[in-house]
Amino acid sequence: MSDWYKKMSFYQIWIRSFADGNGDGIGDLWGVYDKLEYIKSVGVDGIWFSPIYPSPNADFGYDISDYKDIHPEYGDLALFKKVLDKAHDLGLKVIMDLVINHTSDEHPWFQESRKGRCNPYSDYYIWRDTPNNWESLFEGNAWEYDPQRGQYYLHIFAKKQPDLNMDNPAVRKEVEEILKFWLDMGVDGFREDVINFISKKEGLPSGVPLLPAVNGMPHYKDGPHIYEYNRQFRRVCQKYDCFQIGEGPMTTLKSALKYLTGPEKCLDMMFSFDHMMADCFYTEYMHRPFSLLKYKRAISKWQYGLEGRAWNSLYLENHDHPRIISRYGSEVFRVKSGTMLAASYLFLQGTPFIYQGQEIGMTNIRLGRIEHYEDVSSKTNFHRYHLKDSMARRLHRIHLSSRDSARTPMQWDDSPHAGFTVPQAQPWFYVNRNYTEVNVKNQEKDPSSILNFYRACLKLRKSSKTLLFGGYREHFPKDRYVFTYERYRKDIRYLIICSFSESAVAFRVPREYEGRTGELMLCNYEDREKGPDKVRSIGFLRAYETRVYRFRF
Ligand code: NOJ
Repeated sequence: MSDWYKKMSFYQIWIRSFADGNGDGIGDLWGVYDKLEYIKSVGVDGIWFSPIYPSPNADFGYDISDYKDIHPEYGDLALFKKVLDKAHDLGLKVIMDLVINHTSDEHPWFQESRKGRCNPYSDYYIWRDTPNNWESLFEGNAWEYDPQRGQYYLHIFAKKQPDLNMDNPAVRKEVEEILKFWLDMGVDGFREDVINFISKKEGLPSGVPLLPAVNGMPHYKDGPHIYEYNRQFRRVCQKYDCFQIGEGPMTTLKSALKYLTGPEKCLDMMFSFDHMMADCFYTEYMHRPFSLLKYKRAISKWQYGLEGRAWNSLYLENHDHPRIISRYGSEVFRVKSGTMLAASYLFLQGTPFIYQGQEIGMTNIRLGRIEHYEDVSSKTNFHRYHLKDSMARRLHRIHLSSRDSARTPMQWDDSPHAGFTVPQAQPWFYVNRNYTEVNVKNQEKDPSSILNFYRACLKLRKSSKTLLFGGYREHFPKDRYVFTYERYRKDIRYLIICSFSESAVAFRVPREYEGRTGELMLCNYEDREKGPDKVRSIGFLRAYETRVYRFRF
């Protein structure tokens, strides 16, 4: 398989909230078709589609009821093909979400499986007479009793997401067929959902009670046949010029390297999570104050850890996380912190992913009642929070953590519903009230907008072998306010300086740069002139200031 993905960056579409092309208040492929030129203009080279398959939407597409079709609300296969062809004509690759740890309980396989113990689908899922003590990640106990079959089925996520039994060769054959179906249609690869969970330990041993929700994880993460099964799927993909990125919740560097290198290599990249925990314990639902030191430590761990051995994926947002400005930046300094956050990750070594709306600095939504939220995990966590806490406090925690903040309609302009749908339609979900200010149209006109800063970063990145392929070095790892990193290759070095502080801070220049004249390539304060600039050993950065210098050594 070739490694074209190393020079690329991707734009992630969560279709329901992207653009409504047929006026029913729900995003769809007609909307995507019309916005492909915009996506291209951001400077990316590919699109990752979060699931667009038929789904009852218990987990908004991650509960699939037909792997080889398109959800009728989003279009059909013919329309998908049109979108795919147009994307290709524009030079954009397209990757699909592959969700094979579980299906929807409305998938025909599950409907058959629950009918009894001796039909072709009986062993497609994980059934037991007596459940173990595992908890699910989304909805309490991981086992649900099915009266029709008279047994319990396993669901690591929501009740409506029964886990497939990957130990059954017939299930793996189905996965092969799904891969072939989409690859034959012309897609360029897959983002593979919770791919490190698909092989469960034999006998499904009970977990030690740990934190709620994760006690079974040691028995289903990186399970005994995980590489074997993924190698089997890789063999199908290898027949095509495609690439595979796996989502690896709780993955460690050591275990990621097994997926990415050596004889068991079965993925090109993995989405790791360490850097998303700089303001929380393991999940956003357990919040703690943001720590730049934690962010930097996580970044450097993966940058150094994969360098020369494998390839990083770079992201700050996706459909599972609240908006990054509301977390690691500041809504008050939205533009400055949004641009600085872009520079803090777009120049790292790896392939960047940008989530819809991130490029215009969309922020979290704050809904007044838990009933107004849609996401299953937000609801469960709200009810899990300490009942002694006031309603307001519990809601505040949801405001900080909910995945729904990433799922509000894309803000295209300042017309009703932010231009996401036609004025007379009702959008399927709340539009963030800040849309009159925060929208694509406004930012197109503004040279110092977040959107134009993303464009400049992606352009610079693509123009430089040093930024694409050079080494990484972090400076001053103990600095609590400033993240300084370097990319180097031959005699060219880039120095990227990012202040995470709301007030002015002093910053130091690494000793070997002192007194040298570099070229200021990017800065998020317009009054600082681009071009040759002599760096002094000590300087000041304004609120959330970022600078990118290029030096010849
Ligand atoms: C990870 C996906 O990104 C998330 O949205 C989903 O809820 C779970 N996997 C379960 O499929």
